[in-house]
Amino acid sequence: MFKEEIEKLIQKKLLRVIKDRNAYREHFYKEDALDKSFPFDFKSKSLSHILIEGQKFVNFSSNDYLGLSHNQRVIEAVKEVIEIFGIGAGASRLLSGGTELHQELEKKVAKFKGTEAALIFNSGYTLNTSVIPAISDEKSVIFSDELNHASIIDGCRLSAAKKIIYRHTDMNHLSELIKKEEGRRKIVITDTVFSMDGDIAPLKDLYNICLENDAILYLDDAHGTGVLGNGRGALYHFGLNPTNWIIQMGTFSKALGSFGAFIAADKEIIKWLINKSRGLIFSTALPATIVAASIKALEIVESDFSLIDSLWENRQRLFNGLKKLGFNTLKSQTPIIPLVPPHLYSEDAVENVNILSEMLRKKHIYAPGIRPPTVKIPRIRFSVTAAHTSEEIDYLLKSLTELKLR
Ligand SMILES: Cc1ncc(COP(=O)(O)O)c(C=O)c1O
Repeated sequence: MFKEEIEKLIQKKLLRVIKDRNAYREHFYKEDALDKSFPFDFKSKSLSHILIEGQKFVNFSSNDYLGLSHNQRVIEAVKEVIEIFGIGAGASRLLSGGTELHQELEKKVAKFKGTEAALIFNSGYTLNTSVIPAISDEKSVIFSDELNHASIIDGCRLSAAKKIIYRHTDMNHLSELIKKEEGRRKIVITDTVFSMDGDIAPLKDLYNICLENDAILYLDDAHGTGVLGNGRGALYHFGLNPTNWIIQMGTFSKALGSFGAFIAADKEIIKWLINKSRGLIFSTALPATIVAASIKALEIVESDFSLIDSLWENRQRLFNGLKKLGFNTLKSQTPIIPLVPPHLYSEDAVENVNILSEMLRKKHIYAPGIRPPTVKIPRIRFSVTAAHTSEEIDYLLKSLTELKLR
């Protein structure tokens, strides 16, 4: 089954394969089996290094922007609760799956995001595919940016609403389209930081358009939370205040280094979502250990800006270096930096990206290519984190120079 379909993907060089990483702690691998040509001190353990098939790489492909997935305070917080709550939640939140930690996290998220209430979900994907259908019906119309994340696209597909796609961050286009739709509930949905391009949605304009047209603004702040606005996200980055017609979603799985997602909004909206979000009602709750990790991660982000400062210093170092080398980084404004390789090796853009990614891999740099159907323009997507050292960033720049792409 699917043999021919798989063959076609192979021919187009679009076959995806999973390359799981190895456990990092020394006693889980045999050192003598490892490739010793890693360019940094081989013994060093760094959050920005990964092991795959016995080879060590500098990882430029992680959304763990603040390195919180391995933060010692977060790990201790998990250890403290694992003996109390065990592993699995055992049931959905509406049955017996929730704990007092789930409530504590929701209170913390609401305070962090400046909203009346919050609700946690098992992942950002689950959230978008549950909440978007829950807040819209056949009398609604959704306006969605053409580069919105796949989970938003799928959420829109599951919704009974009419769907209208506007050109990426094109506010004139959105204004034109929204004026034509009278008498329906209007919902404008956008990523705040676009996950493949790294640019930021023009939230001030979106805010004004929604205000003028009596529309709900739904923000996917997956890559803005912990990164923009001193960690509080895109609204704060633009100096905007939450209101009862803005719904902010965010994830714990990226800058917060944990897992799961949240909606922060008005109390009435949260009440409605508890009753209508199928991904909340019909799925087992997040384990309390994961919730405890998210609580601690939020506390760290709220109280210590040093990680966010390091993240942005690193981002600027890589971005300036790539610009100096003359690379096309699309419109990146954040730690997500795409690099569209020049047509140097082949006229085929996918082939080009595959070759460049492989060449970087030979230099122990892990930065996979992103290709159709995920994006239209094939690219290498670098994501830089607070955990990278300046030496690692300079090594990437030096390696790109050595590859003589220009
Ligand atoms: C913009 C955006 N929204 C939602 C998600 C889904 O989040 P999660 O990984 O928690 O399912 C992602 C993850 O890649 C994302 O980039």
